[in-house]
Amino acid sequence: MVSIKGVTAAYGETVILRDVDIDVPDGAVVALMGRNGVGKTTLLKTVMGLIRPLSGTITYGGKDIVHWKPETRALEGIGYVPQGREIFPYLTVEENLLVGLEARGRKAVVPDGIFELFPNLKDILNRRGGDLSGGQQQQLAIARILITEPKLLLLDEPTEGIQPSIVFEIENTIRFIKDQGKLSILLVEQYMEFALRLADFCYVMEKGSIVFHGNVKELSREEIKSHMAI
Ligand SMILES: Nc1ncnc2c1ncn2[C@@H]1O[C@H](COP(=O)(O)OP(=O)(O)OP(=O)(O)O)[C@@H](O)[C@H]1O
Ligand SMILES: [Mg+2]
Repeated sequence: MVSIKGVTAAYGETVILRDVDIDVPDGAVVALMGRNGVGKTTLLKTVMGLIRPLSGTITYGGKDIVHWKPETRALEGIGYVPQGREIFPYLTVEENLLVGLEARGRKAVVPDGIFELFPNLKDILNRRGGDLSGGQQQQLAIARILITEPKLLLLDEPTEGIQPSIVFEIENTIRFIKDQGKLSILLVEQYMEFALRLADFCYVMEKGSIVFHGNVKELSREEIKSHMAI
């Protein structure tokens, strides 16, 4: 689905990503883990086209997309749920859901299917985004992207600052989406157990480099943890 090869990226003079290789096969969930500030969000922004890498290639559906604008990537099926969720606080839940569809010139009706995945949202359609709990905002942020029917979903720390009951719901939602097999997911997480329960493959980043990667089924938790603890 997406193949990141030799990607190096910087903010001004400061190099953040160094020669990063990550492969997200069709229908797979790939976890990218690592401590605060190692470059995980920078990597997702680079895949979304918000940062232009200094070198390297990003191949999506067989095409090199490094020169594509973020809007083109979104239209071609890359969905990005940013860290911190970025819900519009003064728009209602329904209006937040419609923003993504309207940007694509689609009919301004929320498709019913989304409430099967997120039944909580149906009862709060008229609440303002800013009045929701962190967990509700996270569900809204994921729902807002899913209704645009992406092929690749980029999720940045969906469990950050969220109460355990909603983390559990989000885990079930991601598993349900995964089991449908239509979507590939690149999941950035620091909550390792959550990430490994969902992921097929995992990558560990340290100071902008991938220091370890492997097939989650073939690895022990201890082995993965030993690379996280550097
Ligand atoms: N807009 C920016 N300009 C300059 N430096 C930045 C910018 N955004 C992030 N950085 C720096 O780049 C490095 C990587 O940041 P990034 O946000 O990618 O890390 P992260 O792994 O996502 O961290 P966290 O787990 O805290 O979200 C950090 O040192 C950060 O301070
Ligand atoms: Mg981050």
